Amino acid sequence: MEYMRTYGYHKYQPIDLMTELTVCESLARTSSLSMAALERRKPYGAIIGEMLTACGLLYQGCTVCEIGGGYGSLMKGLLEEYAPLIRRVVMVDLSPRLLRLQRKALERWKRKVTFIQADVMELMPVLSNIDVVIINEMIGDLDTWKDLAPSQLPDDAAALVLRYSLEIPPEGRFHFNVGAVRLVESICRTGVAAFISEHSSDPVIPHGMEYLRRGLSTDGFPREILLKGHAEFTIRFSHLESVARFWGKSCFGGALADLVGVRKSPKMRFIFTARACATDEQAILLEFLDHIREYRWLVIR
Ligand SMILES: C[S@@+](CC[C@H](N)C(=O)[O-])C[C@H]1O[C@@H](n2cnc3c(N)ncnc32)[C@H](O)[C@@H]1O
Repeated sequence: MEYMRTYGYHKYQPIDLMTELTVCESLARTSSLSMAALERRKPYGAIIGEMLTACGLLYQGCTVCEIGGGYGSLMKGLLEEYAPLIRRVVMVDLSPRLLRLQRKALERWKRKVTFIQADVMELMPVLSNIDVVIINEMIGDLDTWKDLAPSQLPDDAAALVLRYSLEIPPEGRFHFNVGAVRLVESICRTGVAAFISEHSSDPVIPHGMEYLRRGLSTDGFPREILLKGHAEFTIRFSHLESVARFWGKSCFGGALADLVGVRKSPKMRFIFTARACATDEQAILLEFLDHIREYRWLVIR
Protein backbone atom coordinates (compact mmCIF):
# COMPACT_ATOMS: atom_id res chain seq x y z
CA MET A 1 0.00 0.00 0.00
CA GLU A 2 1.04 3.59 -0.57
CA TYR A 3 -0.01 6.99 0.83
CA MET A 4 -0.57 9.36 -2.11
CA ARG A 5 -0.29 13.14 -1.68
CA THR A 6 -0.49 16.02 -4.18
CA TYR A 7 0.37 18.69 -1.57
CA GLY A 8 3.90 19.37 -2.91
CA TYR A 9 2.70 19.41 -6.51
CA HIS A 10 -0.01 22.00 -5.85
CA LYS A 11 2.05 24.14 -3.51
CA TYR A 12 5.31 24.27 -5.47
CA GLN A 13 4.72 23.42 -9.15
CA PRO A 14 3.47 25.84 -11.84
CA ILE A 15 0.14 24.10 -12.41
CA ASP A 16 -1.49 24.04 -15.83
CA LEU A 17 -5.17 23.06 -15.56
CA MET A 18 -5.50 22.85 -19.34
CA THR A 19 -3.94 19.40 -19.08
CA GLU A 20 -6.75 18.32 -16.69
CA LEU A 21 -9.85 19.20 -18.76
CA THR A 22 -12.04 20.24 -15.82
CA VAL A 23 -15.79 20.62 -16.45
CA CYS A 24 -15.55 24.10 -14.97
CA GLU A 25 -13.01 25.18 -17.61
CA SER A 26 -14.87 23.43 -20.45
CA LEU A 27 -17.96 25.48 -19.53
CA ALA A 28 -16.23 28.65 -18.35
CA ARG A 29 -17.50 30.87 -21.19
CA THR A 30 -20.67 30.87 -23.30
CA SER A 31 -18.38 30.88 -26.37
CA SER A 32 -16.73 27.59 -25.31
CA LEU A 33 -17.18 24.78 -27.85
CA SER A 34 -18.47 22.37 -25.16
CA MET A 35 -21.46 24.72 -24.60
CA ALA A 36 -23.06 23.02 -27.63
CA ALA A 37 -23.72 20.07 -25.27
CA LEU A 38 -26.03 22.13 -23.03
CA GLU A 39 -29.70 23.06 -23.30
CA ARG A 40 -28.84 26.61 -22.19
CA ARG A 41 -25.56 28.42 -22.82
CA LYS A 42 -24.76 29.42 -19.25
CA PRO A 43 -21.29 29.53 -17.66
CA TYR A 44 -20.68 26.80 -15.09
CA GLY A 45 -20.36 29.27 -12.18
CA ALA A 46 -23.73 30.84 -13.02
CA ILE A 47 -25.33 27.37 -13.06
CA ILE A 48 -23.90 26.62 -9.60
CA GLY A 49 -25.09 30.05 -8.39
CA GLU A 50 -28.57 29.35 -9.73
CA MET A 51 -28.79 25.99 -7.92
CA LEU A 52 -27.42 27.45 -4.65
CA THR A 53 -29.93 30.31 -4.83
CA ALA A 54 -32.81 27.92 -5.56
CA CYS A 55 -32.01 25.87 -2.47
CA GLY A 56 -31.56 28.92 -0.25
CA LEU A 57 -27.79 28.71 0.19
CA LEU A 58 -27.07 31.97 -1.68
CA TYR A 59 -29.01 34.85 -0.20
CA GLN A 60 -28.73 38.57 0.40
CA GLY A 61 -25.63 39.36 2.47
CA CYS A 62 -24.12 35.86 2.43
CA THR A 63 -20.43 34.95 2.51
CA VAL A 64 -19.14 32.34 0.06
CA CYS A 65 -15.82 30.52 0.22
CA GLU A 66 -14.36 28.60 -2.72
CA ILE A 67 -11.60 26.10 -2.02
CA GLY A 68 -9.26 25.23 -4.89
CA GLY A 69 -10.74 27.70 -7.34
CA GLY A 70 -8.20 26.98 -10.12
CA TYR A 71 -8.29 29.83 -12.68
CA GLY A 72 -11.18 31.55 -10.85
CA SER A 73 -13.63 30.73 -13.66
CA LEU A 74 -16.38 29.25 -11.47
CA MET A 75 -16.40 32.26 -9.13
CA LYS A 76 -16.25 34.70 -12.09
CA GLY A 77 -19.33 33.06 -13.67
CA LEU A 78 -21.10 33.09 -10.31
CA LEU A 79 -20.28 36.74 -9.51
CA GLU A 80 -21.26 37.93 -12.99
CA GLU A 81 -24.85 37.01 -12.09
CA TYR A 82 -24.98 36.97 -8.31
CA ALA A 83 -22.48 39.59 -7.05
CA PRO A 84 -25.22 41.93 -5.75
CA LEU A 85 -26.43 39.16 -3.41
CA ILE A 86 -23.02 38.29 -1.98
CA ARG A 87 -21.41 40.33 0.78
CA ARG A 88 -18.00 38.65 0.82
CA VAL A 89 -16.05 35.98 -1.09
CA VAL A 90 -13.05 34.07 0.28
CA MET A 91 -10.85 32.18 -2.21
CA VAL A 92 -8.59 29.55 -0.61
CA ASP A 93 -5.93 27.71 -2.60
CA LEU A 94 -2.67 25.91 -1.96
CA SER A 95 -1.15 27.13 -5.23
CA PRO A 96 0.34 30.65 -5.21
CA ARG A 97 0.28 30.73 -9.03
CA LEU A 98 -3.41 29.83 -9.22
CA LEU A 99 -4.24 32.38 -6.52
CA ARG A 100 -2.54 35.06 -8.67
CA LEU A 101 -4.67 34.00 -11.65
CA GLN A 102 -7.81 34.02 -9.47
CA ARG A 103 -6.97 37.55 -8.35
CA LYS A 104 -6.75 38.62 -12.00
CA ALA A 105 -9.99 36.87 -13.00
CA LEU A 106 -11.89 38.45 -10.08
CA GLU A 107 -10.32 41.93 -10.36
CA ARG A 108 -13.75 43.48 -11.02
CA TRP A 109 -14.99 42.44 -7.58
CA LYS A 110 -11.73 43.06 -5.69
CA ARG A 111 -13.42 45.01 -2.89
CA LYS A 112 -15.37 41.98 -1.76
CA VAL A 113 -12.87 39.16 -2.43
CA THR A 114 -10.13 37.94 -0.05
CA PHE A 115 -7.45 35.45 -1.18
CA ILE A 116 -5.83 33.01 1.25
CA GLN A 117 -3.00 30.61 0.51
CA ALA A 118 -3.68 27.58 2.70
CA ASP A 119 -4.17 23.84 2.81
CA VAL A 120 -7.90 23.15 3.11
CA MET A 121 -7.19 20.36 5.61
CA GLU A 122 -5.63 22.86 8.02
CA LEU A 123 -8.04 25.69 7.31
CA MET A 124 -11.42 23.92 7.40
CA PRO A 125 -11.42 23.20 11.17
CA VAL A 126 -10.93 26.91 11.91
CA LEU A 127 -13.15 28.35 9.18
CA SER A 128 -15.75 30.76 10.57
CA ASN A 129 -18.32 33.29 9.36
CA ILE A 130 -18.80 31.46 6.05
CA ASP A 131 -22.29 30.50 4.82
CA VAL A 132 -21.40 28.11 2.01
CA VAL A 133 -18.22 26.46 0.77
CA ILE A 134 -17.74 25.51 -2.90
CA ILE A 135 -15.34 22.62 -3.55
CA ASN A 136 -15.25 21.93 -7.25
CA GLU A 137 -12.96 19.23 -8.63
CA MET A 138 -10.45 19.51 -5.81
CA ILE A 139 -11.50 16.77 -3.39
CA GLY A 140 -9.98 14.11 -5.70
CA ASP A 141 -6.60 15.79 -5.15
CA LEU A 142 -6.63 15.11 -1.41
CA ASP A 143 -4.64 12.33 0.29
CA THR A 144 -5.53 8.81 -0.78
CA TRP A 145 -4.52 5.37 0.43
CA LYS A 146 -3.61 3.31 -2.61
CA ASP A 147 -3.78 -0.50 -2.86
CA LEU A 148 -5.21 -1.30 0.57
CA ALA A 149 -6.00 -4.89 1.52
CA PRO A 150 -9.42 -5.04 3.29
CA SER A 151 -8.02 -7.30 6.03
CA GLN A 152 -5.00 -5.07 6.77
CA LEU A 153 -6.25 -1.50 6.88
CA PRO A 154 -3.92 1.15 8.28
CA ASP A 155 -5.19 2.57 11.60
CA ASP A 156 -6.55 5.86 10.23
CA ALA A 157 -8.52 4.17 7.44
CA ALA A 158 -9.79 1.43 9.79
CA ALA A 159 -11.04 4.04 12.27
CA LEU A 160 -12.95 5.95 9.56
CA VAL A 161 -14.43 2.78 8.04
CA LEU A 162 -15.63 1.64 11.46
CA ARG A 163 -16.94 4.98 12.68
CA TYR A 164 -18.91 5.82 9.56
CA SER A 165 -19.81 2.22 8.51
CA LEU A 166 -18.16 2.76 5.11
CA GLU A 167 -18.50 -0.06 2.56
CA ILE A 168 -15.24 -1.61 1.45
CA PRO A 169 -14.74 -4.52 -0.94
CA PRO A 170 -14.61 -7.99 0.72
CA GLU A 171 -11.37 -8.88 -1.03
CA GLY A 172 -8.79 -7.59 -3.49
CA ARG A 173 -6.92 -4.29 -3.29
CA PHE A 174 -8.71 -0.94 -3.31
CA HIS A 175 -7.98 2.78 -2.97
CA PHE A 176 -9.50 4.82 -0.14
CA ASN A 177 -10.20 8.61 -0.26
CA VAL A 178 -8.92 9.27 3.26
CA GLY A 179 -8.46 13.04 2.66
CA ALA A 180 -11.93 13.51 1.13
CA VAL A 181 -13.59 11.59 3.98
CA ARG A 182 -11.69 13.65 6.56
CA LEU A 183 -12.57 16.90 4.78
CA VAL A 184 -16.30 16.07 4.85
CA GLU A 185 -15.93 15.15 8.53
CA SER A 186 -14.35 18.55 9.12
CA ILE A 187 -17.10 20.36 7.12
CA CYS A 188 -19.74 18.63 9.27
CA ARG A 189 -17.95 19.54 12.52
CA THR A 190 -17.59 23.17 11.37
CA GLY A 191 -21.31 23.26 10.52
CA VAL A 192 -20.90 25.09 7.19
CA ALA A 193 -22.99 24.10 4.12
CA ALA A 194 -20.99 22.74 1.20
CA PHE A 195 -21.29 22.11 -2.53
CA ILE A 196 -18.92 19.38 -3.74
CA SER A 197 -18.40 18.13 -7.28
CA GLU A 198 -15.87 15.61 -8.57
CA HIS A 199 -15.23 12.55 -10.73
CA SER A 200 -16.90 9.68 -8.91
CA SER A 201 -16.26 5.97 -8.60
CA ASP A 202 -20.01 5.44 -8.03
CA PRO A 203 -21.54 7.72 -10.68
CA VAL A 204 -25.25 8.37 -11.09
CA ILE A 205 -26.54 7.90 -14.63
CA PRO A 206 -28.35 11.03 -15.87
CA HIS A 207 -32.12 10.65 -16.31
CA GLY A 208 -33.01 9.44 -19.80
CA MET A 209 -29.38 8.82 -20.78
CA GLU A 210 -29.04 5.13 -19.90
CA TYR A 211 -26.67 4.72 -22.84
CA LEU A 212 -24.01 6.63 -20.86
CA ARG A 213 -23.73 3.60 -18.56
CA ARG A 214 -21.71 1.70 -21.18
CA GLY A 215 -18.45 0.41 -19.67
CA LEU A 216 -18.99 2.39 -16.44
CA SER A 217 -19.10 0.83 -12.99
CA THR A 218 -21.70 2.62 -10.85
CA ASP A 219 -20.66 0.97 -7.61
CA GLY A 220 -16.90 1.01 -7.89
CA PHE A 221 -14.03 2.04 -5.64
CA PRO A 222 -11.71 4.94 -6.45
CA ARG A 223 -9.70 4.79 -9.65
CA GLU A 224 -6.34 6.46 -10.09
CA ILE A 225 -6.18 9.14 -12.79
CA LEU A 226 -2.63 9.84 -13.90
CA LEU A 227 -2.06 13.49 -14.77
CA LYS A 228 0.92 15.70 -15.53
CA GLY A 229 3.24 15.60 -12.47
CA HIS A 230 0.69 14.01 -10.11
CA ALA A 231 -2.21 11.59 -9.80
CA GLU A 232 -5.71 12.16 -8.53
CA PHE A 233 -8.44 9.68 -7.60
CA THR A 234 -12.14 9.38 -8.34
CA ILE A 235 -14.32 9.77 -5.24
CA ARG A 236 -16.64 7.22 -3.66
CA PHE A 237 -19.54 9.64 -3.03
CA SER A 238 -21.45 7.10 -0.93
CA HIS A 239 -18.62 7.42 1.62
CA LEU A 240 -19.06 11.21 1.77
CA GLU A 241 -22.83 10.79 2.22
CA SER A 242 -22.35 8.26 5.03
CA VAL A 243 -20.11 10.70 6.91
CA ALA A 244 -22.57 13.58 6.43
CA ARG A 245 -25.54 11.47 7.59
CA PHE A 246 -23.60 10.30 10.66
CA TRP A 247 -23.32 13.97 11.60
CA GLY A 248 -27.07 14.51 11.13
CA LYS A 249 -26.66 16.51 7.92
CA SER A 250 -28.95 16.33 4.94
CA CYS A 251 -27.47 15.59 1.52
CA PHE A 252 -28.81 15.96 -1.98
CA GLY A 253 -27.19 15.82 -5.38
CA GLY A 254 -26.96 13.74 -8.51
CA ALA A 255 -25.33 13.54 -11.91
CA LEU A 256 -23.43 16.70 -12.87
CA ALA A 257 -24.71 16.21 -16.44
CA ASP A 258 -28.24 16.81 -15.10
CA LEU A 259 -27.19 19.85 -13.07
CA VAL A 260 -25.59 21.61 -16.05
CA GLY A 261 -28.44 20.54 -18.35
CA VAL A 262 -26.78 18.32 -20.94
CA ARG A 263 -29.01 17.97 -24.02
CA LYS A 264 -30.88 14.67 -24.15
CA SER A 265 -31.30 14.71 -27.91
CA PRO A 266 -31.06 11.85 -30.43
CA LYS A 267 -27.93 13.59 -31.77
CA MET A 268 -26.16 13.25 -28.41
CA ARG A 269 -27.16 9.60 -28.17
CA PHE A 270 -25.87 8.96 -31.69
CA ILE A 271 -22.55 10.71 -31.05
CA PHE A 272 -21.98 8.69 -27.88
CA THR A 273 -23.14 5.30 -29.08
CA ALA A 274 -21.71 5.41 -32.63
CA ARG A 275 -18.45 7.08 -31.53
CA ALA A 276 -18.05 8.11 -35.15
CA CYS A 277 -17.24 11.80 -35.27
CA ALA A 278 -17.48 13.42 -38.69
CA THR A 279 -16.92 16.97 -37.43
CA ASP A 280 -14.82 18.77 -34.79
CA GLU A 281 -18.01 19.67 -32.93
CA GLN A 282 -19.01 16.00 -32.70
CA ALA A 283 -15.54 15.08 -31.43
CA ILE A 284 -15.79 17.77 -28.71
CA LEU A 285 -19.27 16.63 -27.70
CA LEU A 286 -18.16 13.00 -27.49
CA GLU A 287 -15.18 13.91 -25.32
CA PHE A 288 -17.38 16.09 -23.09
CA LEU A 289 -20.06 13.41 -22.64
CA ASP A 290 -17.48 10.73 -21.94
CA HIS A 291 -15.94 13.00 -19.31
CA ILE A 292 -18.99 14.44 -17.54
CA ARG A 293 -20.84 11.11 -17.21
CA GLU A 294 -18.50 10.17 -14.35
CA TYR A 295 -19.16 13.33 -12.33
CA ARG A 296 -21.43 13.75 -9.36
CA TRP A 297 -22.38 16.74 -7.25
CA LEU A 298 -23.45 16.84 -3.65
CA VAL A 299 -24.79 19.48 -1.30
CA ILE A 300 -24.32 18.94 2.43
CA ARG A 301 -26.21 21.21 4.82
C1 LIG B 1 -8.09 20.14 -10.34
S1 LIG B 1 -7.91 21.79 -9.79
C2 LIG B 1 -9.61 22.33 -9.94
C3 LIG B 1 -9.71 23.78 -10.17
C4 LIG B 1 -11.14 24.34 -10.31
N1 LIG B 1 -11.89 24.17 -9.09
C5 LIG B 1 -11.85 23.70 -11.49
O1 LIG B 1 -12.84 23.00 -11.26
O2 LIG B 1 -11.41 23.92 -12.63
C6 LIG B 1 -7.66 21.62 -8.04
C7 LIG B 1 -7.55 22.94 -7.31
O3 LIG B 1 -7.43 22.68 -5.90
C8 LIG B 1 -6.27 23.31 -5.39
N2 LIG B 1 -5.80 22.46 -4.27
C9 LIG B 1 -5.29 21.21 -4.34
N3 LIG B 1 -5.02 20.72 -3.13
C10 LIG B 1 -5.39 21.69 -2.24
C11 LIG B 1 -5.36 21.79 -0.82
N4 LIG B 1 -4.90 20.79 -0.06
N5 LIG B 1 -5.82 22.92 -0.24
C12 LIG B 1 -6.28 23.95 -1.01
N6 LIG B 1 -6.31 23.92 -2.35
C13 LIG B 1 -5.88 22.81 -2.97
C14 LIG B 1 -5.33 23.39 -6.58
O4 LIG B 1 -4.30 24.32 -6.43
C15 LIG B 1 -6.33 23.76 -7.68
O5 LIG B 1 -6.68 25.12 -7.64
